[in-house]
Amino acid sequence: MKVAILGLGSVGRGVISVLARKDLGIVVTGIADSRSGVMDPAGIDLAAVLTRKAETGRCGEPDILGEDIVKNGDYDVLVEVTPTDIVTGEPALTSIRTALSRGKHVVTSNKGPLALQYTELMRLAEENGVHMRYEATVCGAIPIIQTLQHGLAGNKVHAVYGVLNGTCNYILTRMADEGLTYDQALAEAREMGYAEADPTSDVKGIDTALKLVILANTIWKNGVTLGDVDCTGIDLLTAEALTLAESQNCTIRLIGEVVPERDLLRVSPCILPKKHPLVVRDTLNAVTVVTDMAGAITQVGKGAGSVETASAVIGDLLFIRDCHVRGD
Ligand code: HSE
Repeated sequence: MKVAILGLGSVGRGVISVLARKDLGIVVTGIADSRSGVMDPAGIDLAAVLTRKAETGRCGEPDILGEDIVKNGDYDVLVEVTPTDIVTGEPALTSIRTALSRGKHVVTSNKGPLALQYTELMRLAEENGVHMRYEATVCGAIPIIQTLQHGLAGNKVHAVYGVLNGTCNYILTRMADEGLTYDQALAEAREMGYAEADPTSDVKGIDTALKLVILANTIWKNGVTLGDVDCTGIDLLTAEALTLAESQNCTIRLIGEVVPERDLLRVSPCILPKKHPLVVRDTLNAVTVVTDMAGAITQVGKGAGSVETASAVIGDLLFIRDCHVRGD
């Protein structure tokens, strides 16, 4: 199976390093970062690309652009892992539309296009007989989309609750445990590469809201968008509030919740007993799905990170490869 990769940030480099060291039957024929690109229908030397990127900041030639690869490249699957734009979804949205229209499968970690145009992108994929997969958009390494689409197939989902943002969880954990100020904890989260390029999206709850929108559309196909989410972040939370929660053997977590039966789509800091299953530490994510047959299922795992998010991308790629083999 031939793959083109757009984006060579933390996720893209994670995907390439995994493909370089595991023999998964995947040949990479195109790679582009924001300043350059490389194409080779016979397969690119991935280790050489990682070295070039580390040494020069570029993966290839300045005259090869991502859009050239998307439009003219020889690939079966486009892996779109560029930074997200929550206002326009671009340039990822155009890349994804172009690839789907060419009859190419798409795997993405990019929340903007999915949260803005979920229904359109799924319809375009269906019309062109290809897969549009996006496990890496929600909860990093946790296979929550697979769980909802396949593992819990046939269940009626009543609600989803979760800690969906690793940066906020890290900040809250460090403030409560180490007495760090909000600014100190945020600076640490940025240094560790968990926060978005603009961390405002994390701390104001917007990143959590985008993930809720993607989950809601995955489960209920209800066409909700960011504007439907009632959203409060952790940016105004004080150390005193955390100390008060602590005095009652509780703590505070930023929780995203969707309960369609109550018309509820909300992100807000919540006080939870310390033993609550959603009280996870550091950059962990936790998500509970409440269903009619399976009851409540909670998954916990790394919500961000290079190789952790690459795990979700690789899972989607192998899902598509296996469908190919079966002729689905
Ligand atoms: N900034 C996001 C987080 C990255 O902290 O959870 C993963 O979506």
